[in-house]
Amino acid sequence: MTTPAEIQFKDVDLNAVADAPGMVVVFVDADGKLDAGARKVNTLTRKSLARFIESSAFEKMAVGDVSVLGYPAGMSAAAVCVVKLGRRPSSQEARKAGAQLAKAQNGQDLLIMAGSIGRADEIALGLALRGYRFDVHKTADSTAAGAVTFMVSKPEEVAKSAAPMAAIAEGVFFTRDLTNEPANVLTTDDFAARLAAMQELGLEVEILEEDDLAKLGMGMLLSVGQGSDSPSKVVVMSWNGGGKEAPFALVGKGVVFDTGGISLKPAGGMEDMTMDMGGAGVVAGVMRTLALRKAKANVVGLVGLVENMPSGNATRPGDVVKSMKGDTVEVINTDAEGRLVLGDVLWYAQERFKPVGMVNLATLTGAILVALGHENAGLFSNSDELSEAFLKAAATEGEGAWRMPMGPAYDDLLKSRIADMKNVGGRMAGSITAAQFLQRFVKDGVPWAHIDIAGTASVKKETALAPAGATGWGVMALNRLIADHYEN
Ligand code: BES
Ligand code: MN
Ligand code: ZN
Repeated sequence: MTTPAEIQFKDVDLNAVADAPGMVVVFVDADGKLDAGARKVNTLTRKSLARFIESSAFEKMAVGDVSVLGYPAGMSAAAVCVVKLGRRPSSQEARKAGAQLAKAQNGQDLLIMAGSIGRADEIALGLALRGYRFDVHKTADSTAAGAVTFMVSKPEEVAKSAAPMAAIAEGVFFTRDLTNEPANVLTTDDFAARLAAMQELGLEVEILEEDDLAKLGMGMLLSVGQGSDSPSKVVVMSWNGGGKEAPFALVGKGVVFDTGGISLKPAGGMEDMTMDMGGAGVVAGVMRTLALRKAKANVVGLVGLVENMPSGNATRPGDVVKSMKGDTVEVINTDAEGRLVLGDVLWYAQERFKPVGMVNLATLTGAILVALGHENAGLFSNSDELSEAFLKAAATEGEGAWRMPMGPAYDDLLKSRIADMKNVGGRMAGSITAAQFLQRFVKDGVPWAHIDIAGTASVKKETALAPAGATGWGVMALNRLIADHYEN
C-alpha cells in the first residue's frame, strides 16, 4: 500500500540551515514578522526575506500559502519555502500550510524550521495527506519521496501529538488506495485479503463466504453478486479497545465494480464505477486508524463485497428476492444494487452485535451529486443527536456534509404490486428513497445514519488535502466522531 511520508521531529539547530539540502521551510506571519528560522535565512541570504515581505507577492499570499524562492545565495538548499502563518494557527490553516508544502516539495528533502509555531502536528498531517500519490500502476514515473524533518522547540511533545495523526494519514491512504484501485486488481477476493492482513494490527477479521451468506438468508446481497465470477463476501472487522460495552457499527457498500447489471449503465464514464466500493473503503480506513492509534473504543466494521455484472446468471429486472430480515423485494432496476447489499449487512450487524449506534457509508446514488455536487456528502438519519454529532465532527475535520430529509411520504414510493417493496422509488428524490429503503432494515431505537458519498469519495480535481482521484472523505470525521462520543 501507499505509505505516508515519514516525518521526523528534532531539536532546533539554526546552524543546520546553511548546509541543508533540498528545501528549507520558514515561517512569516501575516504582518511580515519573521520567525527564528526565517531570521536565520534572512541573515544568510543578505536580507532577501526582508525584501520579499515588502513585495506585493507576499501581500497577495493568503494565510497558509507557500512561496518558493529558488537558489538562495549563501545556502546549499535548492530553495527556501516561505509559509505565511502566525504562531497560533487554526488547525485548518496549519493543514493547509502542510498541504501547500507537499505540493511544492516535488520529491526533495524538506527541513521545516517550525521553532515554536503552534500545531506543527497539524502541519505534518496536511503534508502527509496532500503528499499522497497513486502510482503503483506507473512503470516509470515514481519519484522517490524526500525526507521530511521538522525542527521544533519541543520535539518529544510534538512527536507524541503527531502520532495519532500519522494513524489518521495511514487510514486515509488505505481508503484512497482501495478506492483508486481498478476492479481487475481489487476483486472481492483481493479486497478481503487486504482486510484480513489488518489482523497484524490487532484487528479481528472474519470473512463470510457465499455459503455462509446463503445460510444467513442474505438473498438481497447475493442477488447482486450472482452475475459475477467473483464470489460475494461479507467481511467483519472488530476493534475491541473499550472493554465490555456494545460496539458502534460501521457498514460499507463494497461494490468492486458496478456495471448496472442487466439494467446496464451507458459506456461513457462507466470506468468511474471502480470507486463503487468507496463506502467499504472508508470503513476499512477508519478501522485501520482505530487500530493504529489503539482507540479505547469497541467498533465493528462490516463490508458487503460484491461485483454487479450482467451475465446469464445475473438477476433480472422483475425478479423477487428475499432479505435476511424476511421481507421480499421486487428488483425493478438491477442498477439500484447498493441498497440491496447494505440492507442485508445492516440487518446482520444489528442481529449479531446489538450496536449502540450505526453509520453506513455508500456511493449510493447519482442523485446526491445533482443535489450536493462534490462539496458535501448527504446525511440521512433517524436520530437528531447522531446527526448533530456527525455534522460537528465533519465540520471540525473540514469534510463537508449536509443533512437531507426523510419521511413516510417518501417511503410510500417504494410500494410494490407483488412484493413487500421494490428497490427503486422513481425519478423524484432518488437519494431520499434510497435512504428510505435502507431504513426499512434498521430496527426501532437504533440510532442510525446513512451517508451517501457518491459525490465526495472520488473527484476529478484536486481538493484541499488530496490530489485528483480518491479523497478518503469521511475517515477523519468518523475517527473524530468515535473519539468524541464512543471512546472512554
Ligand atoms: N453506484 C451507483 C451510484 C453512483 C453514481 C455512484 C455516480 C457514484 C457516482 C448506484 O449503484 C446507482 O447506479 N444508482 C442509481 C440508482 C437508480 C437506478 C435508482 C443511480 O443513481 O442512477
Ligand atoms: Mn448501480
Ligand atoms: Zn452502485
